[in-house]
Amino acid sequence: MVAGGSGSGPGGADAEASAEGLERLTWLRAEVARHNRLYHAEDAPEIPDAEFDALVAELRALEAAVQPNLASTASPADAVGAPPSSRFAVVVHAAPMLSLDNAMDDAALADFDRRVQAGLGHTGLGDIGAVDYCAEPKLDGLALSLLYRDGRLLRAATRGDGSRGEDVTLNCSRLACIPRVLGAAAPRELEVRGEVFMTWSGFAELNRRQAEAGEKCFVNPRNAAAGSVRTLDPEVSAGRPLEFLAYGAVGAGGAALAGRQSELLDALAALGLPVSPLRACVSGLAGARAYFARIEALRGSLDIPIDGCVFKVDHFDLQQELGFVSRAPRWAVARKFPPEEAITRVLGITVNVGRTGALTPAARLEPVFVGGATVTNATLHNADEIMRLDLRVGDTVVVRRAGDVIPEVVRVLVERRPPEALPWPLPTHCPACDTPVARAAGEVVLRCPAGFVCPAQRLEGLLHFVSRRAMDIDGFGEKLLQQLLQSGRVQDAADLFSLTSADLLAMDRVGERLARRLLDNLAAARHTTLARFIHALGIREVGEATAALLAEVFGDIEPLMRAETSDLEQIPDIGPIVAAHIVEHFRLPAHCALIERLRAQGVQWETVATAPGGEGPLAGLTVVLTGTFALGSRETLRARLQSLGARVGEGVSRQTSYLIAGEAAGSKRAKAEALGVPVLDEAGLELLLAGERSPAPASA
Ligand code: IVH
Repeated sequence: MVAGGSGSGPGGADAEASAEGLERLTWLRAEVARHNRLYHAEDAPEIPDAEFDALVAELRALEAAVQPNLASTASPADAVGAPPSSRFAVVVHAAPMLSLDNAMDDAALADFDRRVQAGLGHTGLGDIGAVDYCAEPKLDGLALSLLYRDGRLLRAATRGDGSRGEDVTLNCSRLACIPRVLGAAAPRELEVRGEVFMTWSGFAELNRRQAEAGEKCFVNPRNAAAGSVRTLDPEVSAGRPLEFLAYGAVGAGGAALAGRQSELLDALAALGLPVSPLRACVSGLAGARAYFARIEALRGSLDIPIDGCVFKVDHFDLQQELGFVSRAPRWAVARKFPPEEAITRVLGITVNVGRTGALTPAARLEPVFVGGATVTNATLHNADEIMRLDLRVGDTVVVRRAGDVIPEVVRVLVERRPPEALPWPLPTHCPACDTPVARAAGEVVLRCPAGFVCPAQRLEGLLHFVSRRAMDIDGFGEKLLQQLLQSGRVQDAADLFSLTSADLLAMDRVGERLARRLLDNLAAARHTTLARFIHALGIREVGEATAALLAEVFGDIEPLMRAETSDLEQIPDIGPIVAAHIVEHFRLPAHCALIERLRAQGVQWETVATAPGGEGPLAGLTVVLTGTFALGSRETLRARLQSLGARVGEGVSRQTSYLIAGEAAGSKRAKAEALGVPVLDEAGLELLLAGERSPAPASA
């Protein structure tokens, strides 16, 4: 660590500030040591990494300012991990397991590159050229040392405090992710270093199992991985979804394998050790920047938890030239991603009522910058989640914002709870219409059962109706719809279509031009597709895809309105819950009346095909065409079949009477066969076109 040794410490005039500074320093030292212990020894971190980094940075700055001489003595800011736990035998590392310096932003990465160039005697003016770096993702797990002798795993150890680690051989030798035997080319002795971690999906699955068994859930994948390796029961480790990636090898064995880090990783892979497929050799600062940008863009889609990129001077001889400072090499840096977790305070808990009456609580937060944006609200999913978190107004919480995902509260720092914070009372009444709320059996969601009567549900329902993927009526935003509802001019979706220019002009911020545009948009929306229309109705659990499927299978709205759950459950992808929601929706007279009123306002939809009951010899049959036919194009054949009364669908379901398969028929044929739907060939099609209702299926 670089500390001011020039005597530029606080002067005598600053005695008071020094007293305060000393107090803060004492507190920071204890706090940093405590969090180090919680993170490394107990696998139970209390605060996000970024908060810890901030404490360390403050401690360093204070140490340098208040007690410059202290730099020579051990500081908790320089601690690498924590001493080994007495639960394990001690392993003394032949080469210390060091930490990495962090570069929190691009300028810090540029500083690192400059330091490397200067350390290697480069002027930075391009006379020697850019330094090659081996670039790797920074895995967020637990550092592990694996010692192989004659190609066999001899010992596994954690980092511990960097010089002395914990012997976890028993636990690691049963993990599928760690090879017990290496390829024949392995040097006689090889100490591999790498990271053991848990994927996001493995972590979610483990926590699901833990919750089911009534066991404690883990805070994050790192903590879960560390807890799973540092257990006293090898059975427990073996049952945990652990992964391992090697990122280095030390000692003579490593040197014998390669002269560069990038070659070393290839050599380790050749010996059968897993290494990151995202590793790359990049040239200079520009290459490092481009790599960082690429990995940062990928981060959201990776199942592996990573918190940055590591850049290592590629050539080992150059690494040696640069050497180490107390706790980290000069030849490597960790360029960290902006933190996705931060600490803030809960100012209040609000409850929103959704389109289907679901009550969704949200935390109102003291603004905090996290995941690249300022966050003031976080979802709490449902009331159970608040109970699970035991979240109270006034609490200090950890908020997470990863990529574009809605920010959420991950946990409460109970130790920082103000004494006056009371448990949150579950809502008993709808905040929008005061109707008592109910919870259906087996559901976690509280619901307002008032439906259309509830102003919040009415507004949400209208917003959904006009939305782009439903009726696509542009210009009707939340403010305008709210005014129209409040004025009483609009009560439901059908009223939108009877709006006049005068009605619209009476609303705030609506002028002639906007009124005309809104009326034009309404006029255009009168002609829609059946799929959009079904989607717009806002039936619970019926999203865009299900609406399209229903349109295809039923062809028009009436048969869907008449469908029983048993009909609906025949359709692939429609389960009993969705089927029940559909039937319930149309059982409500108000919902059927709305459809009639929409129709009366001129709303019409293209039927997908002639509905069953169409006239002709093939009436009541539903057929699907696939492949190509000598008898004509699919469009012509579709029209001919429809003219004979058949309904022509797009997707195969149990309701399909025949799949007619021409040349090069694809997956539909397999699906029909799986569902037991008879398949006709071109000869069968000819018979159908001649009015024969039951031609013999083609032999498979
Ligand atoms: S190299 C002397 N490479 O980060 C340098 N470390 O903050 C040794 N880590 O203790 C580390 N991914 O547990 C290196 N690709 C990677 C890494 C990596 C994750 C961890 C490792 C180390 C910590 C330092």
